[in-house]
Formats: sequence, C-alpha cells, structure tokens
Amino acid sequence: MARSVAVAVVLVAMAVAASAQAPTAAPTTPSGPPNVTAILEKGGQYTTFIRLMKETQQDTQLNSQLNNSFNGNGYTVFAPTDNAFNNLKPGTLNSLTQQQQVALVQGHVLPQFYSMDSFETASNPVRTQASGTDGPYTLNITATSNNQVNVSTGVVDVTVTNALSSVKPLAVYSVDKVLLPFELFGVKAPAAAPTASSTKPKKGSEAASGPAGSEDAAEPTGAASARAVGWGVAGVAAVLGCLL
Ligand SMILES: *[C@@H]1O[C@H](CO)[C@@H](O)[C@H](O)[C@H]1NC(C)=O
Ligand SMILES: *[C@@H]1O[C@H](CO)[C@@H](O)[C@H](O)[C@H]1NC(C)=O
Ligand SMILES: *[C@@H]1O[C@H](CO)[C@@H](O)[C@H](O)[C@H]1NC(C)=O
Ligand SMILES: *[C@@H]1O[C@H](CO)[C@@H](O)[C@H](O)[C@H]1NC(C)=O
Repeated sequence: MARSVAVAVVLVAMAVAASAQAPTAAPTTPSGPPNVTAILEKGGQYTTFIRLMKETQQDTQLNSQLNNSFNGNGYTVFAPTDNAFNNLKPGTLNSLTQQQQVALVQGHVLPQFYSMDSFETASNPVRTQASGTDGPYTLNITATSNNQVNVSTGVVDVTVTNALSSVKPLAVYSVDKVLLPFELFGVKAPAAAPTASSTKPKKGSEAASGPAGSEDAAEPTGAASARAVGWGVAGVAAVLGCLL
C-alpha cells in the first residue's frame, strides 16, 4: 500500500517535471529562420550597421535568403561596431554612391556559414555577397588553431573577436573596424586618369605609400642602385677629368 502510494507520487512528480520542462524549452528554440536584424539589435552596439543594412535593403535580402531552403551553406556576417564607423574618416560613407554602399554592406557577408573553428578551412580569397561583375570583393581569412581569426580586405585588417551568433545557418561576428573593400578604397585613381586603377603609381609618389606600399617595395632599391651607378659613372668621370 505504502509502496504503491510512493510509486504514484514518483509518477506524478515525473509528469509534473516533464510538463514543467516543455513550456520553458519551447520559447528558446527558434521556430523560424534566424533574423540578422534581431541578432544585431540584441548586440546593442551595431546601430549604424543596422541602418546601413536597412538603407541598402540587405537586411530583408539576407533574412529572405536565410528563409530559403536552397541556400544550404548558410551565411557569415562581420558586423562592425558603432565605434568602428565612428573611427572612419568623416564623410567616408557619404562619399559612396548607393550602389557602392550596397557593395560595402555585401562585402561584410559571406555566402557560407563559418563557425570559429571552421574558419581554418576557408580557402583564400574568400568570396563575399559583393563578389561579381563589379569586382572580386573578396576577403582573406587567416586562422590559427587557438581560434585567432584575422580578416583582411587588402586595405583593412581586423581580428575577429566575439560571436553574436554561431548557430547554423547564420554566424554573426563583431569586428571593430569597417571592412573597407579594396575595390572602393584600395587605389585612389587620379581624377584625370580614369584608367589609372590598372596602372601602378609612379615611384616617388608619396600618396601611394599606403596600401600599395608593399608592392612598390622593390622600386626604391632599384632606384637607389640606379642612382649608385649614376654616382659611380660621375665619380669615374670626375677622376678622369682630374687626370686629364
Ligand atoms: C527581424 O527583426 C526585426 C527587429 O527585431 C523586425 O523588425 C523584423 O520584422 C524581423 N524580420 C523578420 C523577417 O522576422
Ligand atoms: C519563410 O518562408 C515561408 C515559406 O515561403 C513563409 O511561409 C514564411 O512566412 C517565411 N518566414 C519568414 C520569417 O519570412
Ligand atoms: C592577426 O593579427 C594580429 C595583429 O595584427 C597578429 O598579431 C596575429 O599574428 C595575426 N594572426 C593570424 C592568425 O594571422
Ligand atoms: C589573399 O590571398 C590570396 C591567395 O592566398 C593572395 O594571392 C592575395 O595576395 C591575398 N590578398 C591580400 C590582400 O592579402
């Protein structure tokens, strides 16, 4: 008798526990696709990026792609903080056309889900949503096994820190710099020469010492040796001049 009461109590207790678990588990399990805007809003420091996504309609675009079962690879978003936008030169965003702003935002979105660990498998250069007819708009990603991940556009290098979301199909990572695309900020073409983007800046042009600096590293050496030869010839001429 006592035993059957005890069994009944245990059964009731189990039933209560089960029914108590069900309602608490349900709201934490997202029923629909992830919402990039909601994730960014929750992060609390991405108001400029949210506004840019909205203005360029990349928020609705990405949300509808996330709701499309054909896009099985998922997506990765690098979300610059408000601080990152504040650190841009004043007028940087306003200097861009609407189409360039779209490319800027799309350059922060990869058509592939990467967890912090799987960045190591990325093969450079990595395509973004901006990659296409207007240019490569790729990123280079370097990762070490201790979860250090660097992203480079060729103009901007940044270390990826915290994940706002890393549940397939959407990973969102915070970055503290805006990933300025090389295509828009890499080579400042002189206004007079629209085709100059394919020609190298002349040596001695100090303005080109920024992102293109490493490419030109060999030139000063060549110039210096040419100058050395020049001085050598002058020296020989001077010596000959004295002798004659
Ligand atoms: C995504 O979240 C934002 C902000 O919470 C909301 O305004 C928007 O309607 C949501 N979009 C979808 C497709 O659920
Ligand atoms: C996702 O797509 C389904 C089917 O097309 C649609 O019924 C649903 O409203 C969409 N959900 C959102 C959040 O857009
Ligand atoms: C990432 O960048 C930091 C700072 O520039 C550098 O110290 C670090 O070695 C880089 N890590 C990788 C994996 O490239
Ligand atoms: C990106 O990686 C590719 C392939 O490794 C390399 O050819 C290219 O120079 C890199 N670009 C930058 C900007 O680091």
